[in-house]
Amino acid sequence: MILKPSQREQILPLPVVLISTVSAEGVRNVAPWSNLTPILRPLEEVVLASWIKRDTLENIRQTGEFVVNVPPVGMEDAVMVSARNYPPEVDEFQEAGLLPHQSSKVRAPGVEGCLAWAECTLEEEIAREKFVLVIGKVVHLEADDRFFNSEGEMDFEKARPLGAILGHKGLHFTYPSFSGRHADYREMFLNPPAQQQRRV
Ligand SMILES: Cc1cc2nc3c(=O)[nH]c(=O)nc-3n(C[C@H](O)[C@H](O)[C@H](O)COP(=O)(O)O)c2cc1C
Repeated sequence: MILKPSQREQILPLPVVLISTVSAEGVRNVAPWSNLTPILRPLEEVVLASWIKRDTLENIRQTGEFVVNVPPVGMEDAVMVSARNYPPEVDEFQEAGLLPHQSSKVRAPGVEGCLAWAECTLEEEIAREKFVLVIGKVVHLEADDRFFNSEGEMDFEKARPLGAILGHKGLHFTYPSFSGRHADYREMFLNPPAQQQRRV
């Protein structure tokens, strides 16, 4: 079947993260985000796409900071409360019943109960008519030890990080599961060196 351009997000399983920010006045804000990706490796940057009318975007512009929080299964209801279009003066942590997780390098708090927290500073904005791409530099990256091993690898079947498949009238929350195939990064090279750096 041929899909319309407006259905473009429906062909991809998307991550669901929570972006937490504070306004210049100190009001805490949190909102779910799916249009977010790390920018390659080892560049310590992420990019997120934001519609123009977002308190999150306004706060990032005002303070130059934000936190990318990775919520697990179980936080769907709080995620959907934080998706509501509250006015900027409303504390969305309070509305969604979320507790702050102390940040190390930025003023915006993270969200307690999440699996990982990437504290970011605004690096660059790429503005279009209706949306903005925000490039953030990750200045501090932390993960819950209960779900990550000593090499920083997520036990995703235990952690169950939230994802989503979008549909016509709503979305289904998802989480990843192992396909049964592990691949070494060295498989990507025609002539793999004995000790290939883990860099993709
Ligand atoms: C699962 C999910 C993913 C979302 N992803 C995005 C996104 O990538 N970009 C965006 O601009 N809005 C996205 N939204 C919508 C915002 O979360 C929503 O408009 C929210 O109210 C914005 O809050 P704010 O105005 O406090 O920033 C998403 C909503 C949900 C439920």
